[in-house]
Amino acid sequence: MSGVVVRTAVAADRAAWEPLWQAYLLFYGRKDLPADVTEMTWSRIIDPVSNVFTRLAVVDGKVRGFATCILHPRTWAIEPACYLEDLYVDEATRGKGLGRALIDDLIAMGRRDGWTNLYWHTETTNATARRLYDRYDKADGFVRYRLPLKG
Ligand SMILES: CC(C)(COP(=O)(O)OP(=O)(O)OC[C@H]1O[C@@H](n2cnc3c(N)ncnc32)[C@H](O)[C@@H]1OP(=O)(O)O)[C@@H](O)C(=O)NCCC(=O)NCCS
Repeated sequence: MSGVVVRTAVAADRAAWEPLWQAYLLFYGRKDLPADVTEMTWSRIIDPVSNVFTRLAVVDGKVRGFATCILHPRTWAIEPACYLEDLYVDEATRGKGLGRALIDDLIAMGRRDGWTNLYWHTETTNATARRLYDRYDKADGFVRYRLPLKG
């Protein structure tokens, strides 16, 4: 798709980001996510001191997708790693290369800034996402254990 710009989200993007974020929550069956969590996430995204950041895919001036990441220190390296926590492209613009553009952008950022790696998880059943991810590399075979500790 031509005319795609990928850039960092800023405070003025809130209104454009929110419907995509809500659609992403719906995709994961998490419409019940409390509003204060969304507020905190957004405030972290736009806080230049926070390790959370969002890159937006913008087509003809409209925000069509986002990648939200956490840059974190590592024990096995001096340089940080980047965890891609949330990736979403508007349903109407899927299959046109925006997901790929968002990942390519993170790879370019990481190479420029010296991250050791970019990584993410997905459900084994998310065939659409995995079709995109498999273009980059094979899944590494790690299995996630996740213990709920709250409530
Ligand atoms: C996963 C997701 C971000 C991919 O975004 P996208 O912009 O559609 O992806 P792209 O167009 O860059 O590429 C996807 C790849 O799969 C194919 N593809 C993806 N969706 C497609 C569709 N609806 N129709 C046809 N092909 C599709 C593309 O052809 C491309 O492969 P190729 O270029 O090597 O042939 C998007 O489907 C999405 O937001 N899904 C819901 C949320 C989600 O699953 N997020 C990831 C959680 S880990």
